[in-house]
Parts: sequence; C-alpha cells; structure tokens
Amino acid sequence: MKIVVLCGGVSPEREVSLSTGAKVASALREKGHLTALVDSALDITADPESLFTTEPINNTASIRESAPDVAELQARGEFFGRGVLEVCGMADIVFNAMHGAAGEDGTLQSTFDLMGIKYTGSGSKACSVSMDKTVAKRIMAPVEGVTMPRGVTLLRDDFDGNELSYAASVLKDVGIPMVVKPACGGSSVGVSIVRSEEELLPAIELALSYEPKAVAEEYIKGREFSVGVLGGRALPVIEIRPKSGFYDYKNKYQSGCTDEICPADIPEAVSEEMKAAAVKVHEELGLSAYSRTDFIVTEAGRVYALEANTLPGMTPMSLLPQEAAAVGIGFNELCQIIIEESMNKYDRTDS
Ligand SMILES: Nc1ncnc2c1ncn2[C@@H]1O[C@H](COP(=O)(O)OP(=O)(O)O)[C@@H](O)[C@H]1O
Ligand SMILES: [Mg+2]
Repeated sequence: MKIVVLCGGVSPEREVSLSTGAKVASALREKGHLTALVDSALDITADPESLFTTEPINNTASIRESAPDVAELQARGEFFGRGVLEVCGMADIVFNAMHGAAGEDGTLQSTFDLMGIKYTGSGSKACSVSMDKTVAKRIMAPVEGVTMPRGVTLLRDDFDGNELSYAASVLKDVGIPMVVKPACGGSSVGVSIVRSEEELLPAIELALSYEPKAVAEEYIKGREFSVGVLGGRALPVIEIRPKSGFYDYKNKYQSGCTDEICPADIPEAVSEEMKAAAVKVHEELGLSAYSRTDFIVTEAGRVYALEANTLPGMTPMSLLPQEAAAVGIGFNELCQIIIEESMNKYDRTDS
C-alpha cells in the first residue's frame, strides 16, 4: 500500500508526535509499504512521489533536523504546510500520528472526510465527541458496566467575576478531594488534585486558563490502569505506577518516572470488568480501529473510567503498544493491524 504517516503539527505535543511518526513509518516500511513520513506543518519541497519509499528510516531523516519552534509555526495561521494535503491525497490511507488538538479532536478527520482521504483511527464525529470530557462523560456515564467519577462542568464565562462564590458552589457540589482538569486537554496538562479548600481557586483558574471549559470531579483514590481496544477487542490491562505523585505530564513522558506493568497484577474479575468497560466505551462513543480508556480502581475493587483516548500514544514504549506486545503483537504488526482495521471502517456503510 501507499501510506502517508502524518506527524508533527503545531500542538505542544509536536515533539512526541515527530518521534511517534518516525517509529510508525519505520514499522510500515519494514512491512513493505511505500511510506512517506510527512510533517503536517512544513512545506513539501521534494518531488511528492519520491517521498513514498520502503527505504529504512535512519533516525528522523525525512524530518528536518532543526524543527522550527511551535510558536513560529502557529503564527503562520495555517495548519498544513504547502503541498501536505496533496501528498496525503496520493496515499491509500494516512496514518494519523498526530498528538493532541486538531489532529485528535475531529478537525483533521473532517478535512480528510471532505477531501475523500482515508485515515487511521476514529471518524470525525466520534473524535469530536470524545475529545470533550464533559460531552464524552454524558455518553459514557449512563452505560451499564461503566462507572465514572461524579463531577460538574466549569465554564469560564460563569467563573469570571464570581470567583469566590463560584468556587464555593463547586466545593459544595463535588467536595474535597477533587480533580480539576481542562475539558479537552490531554497529557495531564492543567490537571490539579485539590486536597484543601485553598487549593480550589488556583486549580479552577489554571484549568480555565487553557480552555473556556473544564471539569471538576471527585478524586478517586486507587491504582491506575489503562486498557487498549484493538479491532473491537480489549488488550490486556496495563497498570501505571508513577514513582511519586499522580500520572502528570512529567510522569507520562520522562522515562523512568513511572512503572508500567502489563499484564497488570490484579484479580481476573477486575481485569475482565475493565476490559468489558473499555470495549463498551469504544462502542458507545463510536470509535474505530483502536482506542484506550483510562481507569482507577479503588482498594475495595470498584472500577472507575476516567476518559477515553481516541488517538492513543504510539511510540513503541507507549501504553497500547506495550499491551499489544503482551499478547505477542509486535510494534510492526500493530501498525499493520491499525491500517487494516482503519480500512475496514470505510467498508461499513454507517461510518
Ligand atoms: N477523578 C480522578 N481521580 C483521581 N485521579 C484522577 C482523576 N481524574 C484524573 N486523574 C489523574 O489525572 C491524570 C490525567 O487525567 P485524565 O482524565 O486521564 O486526562 P488526560 O490524560 O487527558 O490529561 C490521570 O491519569 C490520573 O492520574
Ligand atoms: Mg488520560
């Protein structure tokens, strides 16, 4: 097949995406696909046809060595570099290796839909619904077999000018300890755990500084897990054990800060419960090909779903690839399965 691996972009997660893209492109080339590694934010300067090759990737050779900084790219005001969409249009499918924001929230997917470009992962509507934790929660919380932390939506418009009374009402509705997080963000950016009344106001201010909408929900004390879904079936449960604190940005991306154990050392029944919940979430949100749902399990064994990720991390050390490896699916094979499963979504008439 002819595949574009699209990565980079202008989100703060640009660096992670570049590294994901290089790994995925390398895997697909090893699988024999004519694969172009394309940075969505940069202009295409080479002959587009020459980008599609099975040549091994030495490092990130096809990505410029010194990437322009994100602010400069954002200032340009255009998501795609010149020629990027044309190259995407030449492929049988685009492997979406973007991270966060427009690559994940349905915007990129809608653009591709309109242009008749096929892409991996979930469709545009499912992405936009899942990206907003307040909207996704309304869909997931009533589902049988899925329990989510109780919470409220916070709006900047309501908060501004009424800070103290607003915080007091959040305190009354949710109680302490609670978690405050931006509605659409990811990578734990802007997430605070509020353990005392004094911490609440700064936590709301922080979350709403990123976005006009945020979530305040009860803090669930327990062990943290995640479950990937691939082709409609759950992968083994992975446990995430930060060496200190919670699973914040640093613990997510700095190697050695978090132990990840897969398959998780938990009773079979708890594992099955999480796997069933992950599949239900995947189905109810209308996700395709692959996804990953985060969980916390209390000491008493109660399972809470925190959120669903429509575009799970895809470096070989990311959670879903580790889960796949635990059932003997290597990284190259995983990339191949994602391509196949994603092609399937175009065979269904309801997508
Ligand atoms: N209700 C909660 N109770 C306890 N910890 C939470 C809760 N919500 C989030 N967290 C912690 O914050 C991290 C990030 O939250 P999450 O909802 O997964 O958002 P994202 O990963 O999109 O930033 C979680 O991995 C978990 O460590
Ligand atoms: Mg998460």
